[in-house]
Amino acid sequence: MFSHILVTGGAGFIGSNFVRTVLRTQPDVFVVNLDLLTYAGSLENLKELPSPDRYEFTKGDICDQALVEDILRRYKIDAVVHFAAESHVDRSILGPAAFVHTNILGTFSLLEAVRKVWLGERKADAGTVRYHHISTDEVFGSLTADAPAFEENTPYSPNSPYAASKASSDHLVRAYAHTYGLPITLTNCSNNYGPYQFPEKLIPLMILNALEGKPLPIYGDGKQIRDWLYVEDHCEAIWQVLQSGQTGESYNVGGNNQPTNLEIVDAICDILDELKPASPYRPHAGLKKSVADRPGHDRRYAMNINKIGLELGWQPKYALKEGLLKTVRWYLEHGNWIQAIRKQKEYQSWLDKNYTERVESKK
Ligand code: NAD
Ligand code: TYD
Repeated sequence: MFSHILVTGGAGFIGSNFVRTVLRTQPDVFVVNLDLLTYAGSLENLKELPSPDRYEFTKGDICDQALVEDILRRYKIDAVVHFAAESHVDRSILGPAAFVHTNILGTFSLLEAVRKVWLGERKADAGTVRYHHISTDEVFGSLTADAPAFEENTPYSPNSPYAASKASSDHLVRAYAHTYGLPITLTNCSNNYGPYQFPEKLIPLMILNALEGKPLPIYGDGKQIRDWLYVEDHCEAIWQVLQSGQTGESYNVGGNNQPTNLEIVDAICDILDELKPASPYRPHAGLKKSVADRPGHDRRYAMNINKIGLELGWQPKYALKEGLLKTVRWYLEHGNWIQAIRKQKEYQSWLDKNYTERVESKK
């Protein structure tokens, strides 16, 4: 239905997986990727793409409205899928300004560009264009142990600067739909994991640290609960919403699981014990180390995914155990990708900043 898609943030974790999925599965779609290549974005994530002739990369900022307008016109873009963001809660605690800038002002700038080109110049009909916004379960806040899972109409209650900036951008998107009639859809997804995830997030950080025999830092008691989704499942959900979702609607996306962080780390350690029998660090679970908790740490997220299941027939394909095994294997097989990131000065200084101070603050 849509043939020329602008993906923002397509050099990041989920965006690059989405670009790959679309190029692999949609032979009639042309993809333009706009990415600023911040510390989290890398062209290493976009090597050996299927059908590169249907793909164009532009290095640039979503806050640059003129650049976005030019892309919309030049490539006759009929759908925008907006991933670009600052995406890490811990970074948002140590430096919230970038989150306000990119996630709120960046989304605003993008919305202004599509409003001007699609609604103003092109006078596009609702069915012929779409702005799809990628959001998170974190906008809903934190759940107690036995509270029901978040639904699409659960009131927003974001707790971290990251979550507040994402909530803010979601509100702008809704307002543009309501006020200007911009055809939008929105997905709120739980924690993703899988290939190409930057190793500042829990799962890849634990894999990389365990491989080097470094401590596996568990914030607080490690009993926080997340709902984990294999990234390919997320990409398919987004595509399905883009194709068949109802304009103006939001859809929750999640993996239907509720492990604690400790259970996730133990599962990774067990997989590594099995796949690396000669490792001097076996059993890897012995590397776990309790460190100071994250300030304002959300205790539990859970997603009710009935709506997307009933309306669009989407279900996650990967069970957590299977997805984790695929993920650990991927990191073991992509040593060059890991080396490229380990070499980044910025990555090393992040590890020092987040973890050295965290351990010191426990003393
Ligand atoms: P990521 O940090 O891996 O990638 C973000 C990408 O955006 C990077 O390539 C970066 O270079 C790019 N970017 C940042 N600022 C930019 C700017 N001003 N202009 C253009 N590009 C810019 O993030 P991710 O984990 O792939 O998340 C993608 C989206 O999905 C985000 O909106 C995030 O909030 C949302 N989300 C993530 C998760 C998750 O578990 N990772 C879960 C739910 C929702
Ligand atoms: P993270 O991957 O940062 O995602 P989010 O904060 O968006 O859920 O963290 C997932 C969980 O793992 C979260 O409860 C914080 C915890 N965590 C640790 O215990 N240690 C770590 O080193 C990291 C990065 C996260």
